[in-house]
Amino acid sequence: MSPRVTLAFSVNGKRRRVTVPPMKRLLDVLREDLGLPGTKEGCGEGECGACTVLIDGRTVNSCLVPAVQADGATLLTVEGLARGPRLTALQQAFVGMGGAQCGICTPGVLLSAHELLRRRRGRVPSDPEVREALAGNLCRCTGYQKIVDAVRAAARPASRAASRPRRPAAPRRRAGSR
Ligand code: FES
Ligand code: FES
Repeated sequence: MSPRVTLAFSVNGKRRRVTVPPMKRLLDVLREDLGLPGTKEGCGEGECGACTVLIDGRTVNSCLVPAVQADGATLLTVEGLARGPRLTALQQAFVGMGGAQCGICTPGVLLSAHELLRRRRGRVPSDPEVREALAGNLCRCTGYQKIVDAVRAAARPASRAASRPRRPAAPRRRAGSR
């Protein structure tokens, strides 16, 4: 039987442990062992970016990373972007502006864009800045302009405010109730 190692990570804010062959790809551990199929495999060779996830805040191609290298790290996959059912401003912009079509590239694009917007700390990135940040994410459907427009739109204050969770309204008192 091949050797196995137990690894522990924080994945999308939860502590997770897995026991896997040490050279198993992080992409496969996410999809097969952690039940997170949002991360996609395109080329499997580090060329397309479909498998992009964040390790300690940095984008990586998870098809090239042995899971053992992520031991102890903090991981973010596409499943960890939204809080509950409410999409982030970035996800809403992709839906509303046609940034996602077949969707194979979308999880990786979202994570690269998320990392860009975090680095820009509220400043709207220029068109070339978005293109540079997404240079490692190939898309066969959108022609890229809709993706770039969606990323820039998501950085605008109105988009960020609209995606903030609202406090539930206080229950109204009915007339006559105590
Ligand atoms: S599947 Fe990892 S870069 Fe293409
Ligand atoms: S939306 Fe289809 S590959 Fe990008």
